[in-house]
Amino acid sequence: DWTADNVIDEQVELIRETVGEDRVLCALSGGVDSSVAAALVQRAVGEQLTCVFVDHGLLRQGEAEQVEAEFVAATGVKLVVVDAKERFLGALAGVTDPEEKRKIIGREFIRVFEQAARDVVGEGDESGHPVKWLVQGTLYPDVVESGGGTGAANIKSHHNVGGLPDDLQFKLIEPLRALFKDEVRQVGRELGVPDPIVDRQPFPGPGLGIRIIGEVTEHNLDILRRADAIAREELTAAGLDKEIWQCPVVLLADVRSVGVQGDGRTYGHPIVLRPVSSEDAMTADWTRVPGDVLAQISTRITNEVEEVNRVVLDVTSKPPGTIEWE
Ligand code: XMP
Repeated sequence: DWTADNVIDEQVELIRETVGEDRVLCALSGGVDSSVAAALVQRAVGEQLTCVFVDHGLLRQGEAEQVEAEFVAATGVKLVVVDAKERFLGALAGVTDPEEKRKIIGREFIRVFEQAARDVVGEGDESGHPVKWLVQGTLYPDVVESGGGTGAANIKSHHNVGGLPDDLQFKLIEPLRALFKDEVRQVGRELGVPDPIVDRQPFPGPGLGIRIIGEVTEHNLDILRRADAIAREELTAAGLDKEIWQCPVVLLADVRSVGVQGDGRTYGHPIVLRPVSSEDAMTADWTRVPGDVLAQISTRITNEVEEVNRVVLDVTSKPPGTIEWE
């Protein structure tokens, strides 16, 4: 019988057998997969695991704290946080091309993670055992997609931890390899991973970096983060989290639009809401969010985020639109 408990017991056994007394490294992203994989390995080998969280400054409001505080408190993992916000912003300065942004974010991520990994490996710990293993949150559909070679072409370059240099090679532990997403969530819940992480909708690795049409600056990130937090709060309050696969909130930083507020003319930026319903992100339809919910989101964003004076709804299916705007 498939139960989350059985999966946990089985994997804990297997992980212990596999890694023995070696130490293990894991890159946490804030997403479901890496979090559940880490929690599982933590359950199996506890102190032998060190997690690294690269804070690239492109997460949504409250998400870094969820990893740094709540996840750690709930699971007891040993966590190294690398604050790389300045570095990512510096590397992204002046860049507006979507694929260029992805390349830069992917490259910087590898560099920062590589340095953190070197530190963890080099410092050693009381146990004196070497770091030989790297945890990856690979799921069954990823296995099929990469193994089969028959999947649809990757239109956008997605980044995961790959591309580490030869002298920093680890053996992989992939404890979620046999699981589908909903099974991963059940396992995560059973392991006590906090709900906001377990229930998280898909979120791209390059984060808010590809939801700012224009340059990724501290200022633009701040605007988008506030607008996004309002949209998420209202969609959740309206009970739409199950119906919506994900809802990118996009800042058109390169576009200005005229508005009026009080007696004054404003010249602000539009925010796009992109709620989509989907099974697997390969195709998607725009979600028919009730008008009063949209109205509430629009009113709150334009009232509470002064840089934004217009909220628009994306009513394009995929295809022809992609889910993300970049
Ligand atoms: P698109 O925009 O191609 O997105 O319809 C399909 C799914 O993939 C996510 N996405 C990404 N995920 N790195 C990621 O890890 C990326 O560069 C990236 N681009 C898109 C998107 O959020 C959606 O779930």
